Amino acid sequence: MSDNPQKTNSSLRPELFDFHGISMTHYFTDNWEKIQNFQARPDDILIATYPRSGTTWVSHILDLLHFGQTFPERQTSIPIYDRVPFLELAFPLLDLGVDLAEKLPTSPRLIKSHLPIQFVPKSFLEQNCKIVYVARNAKDNVVSYFHFERMNVGDPEPGDWNSFLHRFMEGKMVFGSWYDHVNGFWKKKQTYPNLHYMFYEDMLKDTELEIDKLCSFLGLSPSEEERKLLRSELKFDQMKKNDMVNYSLLPPMDVKVSPFMRKGKVGDWKNHFTVAQNDEFDKDYKKKMMDPKLQFCTEA
Ligand code: A3P
Repeated sequence: MSDNPQKTNSSLRPELFDFHGISMTHYFTDNWEKIQNFQARPDDILIATYPRSGTTWVSHILDLLHFGQTFPERQTSIPIYDRVPFLELAFPLLDLGVDLAEKLPTSPRLIKSHLPIQFVPKSFLEQNCKIVYVARNAKDNVVSYFHFERMNVGDPEPGDWNSFLHRFMEGKMVFGSWYDHVNGFWKKKQTYPNLHYMFYEDMLKDTELEIDKLCSFLGLSPSEEERKLLRSELKFDQMKKNDMVNYSLLPPMDVKVSPFMRKGKVGDWKNHFTVAQNDEFDKDYKKKMMDPKLQFCTEA
């Protein structure tokens, strides 16, 4: 990236700013017009998530389901961020996400985005594309996001844990408020049947069942051989050591600071939240999460 990586690294850290009511950094807005004008095809599949909800896991599942048998070399030679481009990414020296998405040779094209529902390019909805949304409980999500910002110079400085947690509660995170994000897609699901809403915690509890549900949404029926491949490839330890999905090759991330595949558990928040932080968080959560149907599991 540069002769002096340390200098480059700190100078890459962007500032948060308000972008049409959502906290963003310029790495995801620089290319805005092109992103908004992206021409989706009817068979494109959008993997939509709030950061650190299991995006990579689901991306790997979808890629294996669609191409695991026909292009097995894909999984061993192309990193996940090239197989499943990050639509809004505009980071120095990396290909623009939107260009990668446009150039994808596969059918369907699998495309990742962290944009909140109101920013999703309208062609996805006009083309009635399938959307797979993954949500993760707020407490584990914020912990995972904290460690991610520590290791990723493409995000703002996380600061200390307490201030990060408060920033999360205020929605001042890259891609905005977790509360609005998970609720926004939840509401969209009521009027847009081609949206499959999944939970990270369900995936951990019963991966096969969640894959079955996903397959019935996608209209796929994997063979026993494919299922066997999925079972071994999708395990946390396997993904953690797989350089094609563990982000160890992507310059802005330093997996020595904190691994991208960090713990892969439900309930790690208990190792971070103090009792006082937990009380304050719960009170605030109740005020923001008013829909009784949208429930998250925070215990393993
Ligand atoms: P932790 O930081 O809690 O470990 P994303 O891909 O959206 O950035 O999400 C990353 C989170 O998903 C990380 O959480 C990572 O460990 C977890 N994850 C990725 N693959 C997983 C798997 N196979 N099993 C369980 N968790 C997984």
